[in-house]
Amino acid sequence: MTELADPSKLLYKAVTYQTKATPLALTEESISLVKANGSYNVSADDILIEIHSAALNPVDMLWHRASNWMVGSNQKTLGRDYAGVVAKVGANLSGKYSVGDKVCGVITEDFGIGTVAQYLVLNPTKNPGIVKVPTDVKLSFNELAAWPLVLNTAYNMLELHGATKPVGSSSNILIIGGATACGQYLIQLAKVAYKVKTIVTVNSGSADDFVKLLGADYTIDYTKHKNIAGPVAKIVQDELGGEKFQFDELGGEKFQFVFDCVGNSDLFPEMDNILKSKKEGSAVVTIVGNKKADYNTTTFMNTVSLSLIKTVVKSKLGLGSFTYTISRSGPTAEWCKRAMGLFEEGKIKIIIDSTYSLEDFSKAVDRSTTNRARGKVIIEVKKDQV
Ligand SMILES: NC(=O)c1ccc[n+]([C@@H]2O[C@H](COP(=O)([O-])OP(=O)(O)OC[C@H]3O[C@@H](n4cnc5c(N)ncnc54)[C@H](OP(=O)(O)O)[C@@H]3O)[C@@H](O)[C@H]2O)c1
Repeated sequence: MTELADPSKLLYKAVTYQTKATPLALTEESISLVKANGSYNVSADDILIEIHSAALNPVDMLWHRASNWMVGSNQKTLGRDYAGVVAKVGANLSGKYSVGDKVCGVITEDFGIGTVAQYLVLNPTKNPGIVKVPTDVKLSFNELAAWPLVLNTAYNMLELHGATKPVGSSSNILIIGGATACGQYLIQLAKVAYKVKTIVTVNSGSADDFVKLLGADYTIDYTKHKNIAGPVAKIVQDELGGEKFQFDELGGEKFQFVFDCVGNSDLFPEMDNILKSKKEGSAVVTIVGNKKADYNTTTFMNTVSLSLIKTVVKSKLGLGSFTYTISRSGPTAEWCKRAMGLFEEGKIKIIIDSTYSLEDFSKAVDRSTTNRARGKVIIEVKKDQV
């Protein structure tokens, strides 16, 4: 850790902005340390993390665009996923963390701290998505930064879906956006941790082998169809129900869950032919809403439409023909630990699309917002990692 002549100030570089009107820039920042028991430290409830790697998510640019006068013009740092090493431990956390601990996770505080920075002061109570990496987990810092937000999002979709029955071995599931980073973990978790019956994914033809390698049983190439309702209904009829399948008699073979990582409403008029009834414990779960976002222009407000509000309200009142749940990432410490177990056992693959240096952060942002990344876009903050 480079400390300067003034030991109460730690200088570091970060990718920052103040409001949506200020572009992202690599700036020099400082952290004020407090003197206690003869040495300089962070506040009692914080830890200081030297970030080695950070990962970008398309939503990072939504936060930038959402930074209007209402959220203030304080300095904000880009990024939510991180992996690094604990450099200082606040007095109240001395039993829980030690200097030198390898940690990774996702921050949940909005409009302030961020992870595309050489240092991060983190309050683990306010940001519970943190895990100490066990010494026997042999993942690089880039890999450690590549999973927290998206894997936790996938896990929440599989757990907090609003249906009356859990995801399990009798579930046929449809994942719209199987090649998205969230979709990649949905496929893998559904296969290894929930042992679902059948996984059908919607992806481009170029991602076909990739999603099948992760665990998809059938795929639909969305680039070949204006509307995916037809091909999805055909898969239900031809593949999930077998030759003798008839919707009315054997509704049990329809999907129990539709997980949407893209923002789609094509299936809504056909839902009766695609999804089991509510009584049988079915649900449609989305992390985007019902229309696809362009991360170069979309704002949070654009993601909400009247039709989305109507579908959600109808579902909440029990009036809609299907359960429709909007899910969010919301990491728990327990789940972070469970994920570590799956990595350790080699059951889950971590997929990285591309890696950039801190100086090249704008290339990383461009890549993340293309909607073409296959896996995480990583910013290797610390050079010469070991
Ligand atoms: N609610 C939440 O808390 C939450 C959390 C995380 C993410 N999200 C949102 O979830 C979405 C996915 O995020 P992500 O980070 O997983 O995305 P991502 O990894 O950036 O997605 C890129 C992938 O999207 C696929 N894709 C593009 N257009 C598609 C389409 N029309 N149909 C199916 N697949 C398509 C591409 O694969 P192909 O080769 O198949 O085209 C590409 O590889 C984003 O909108 C993000 O903001 C929400």
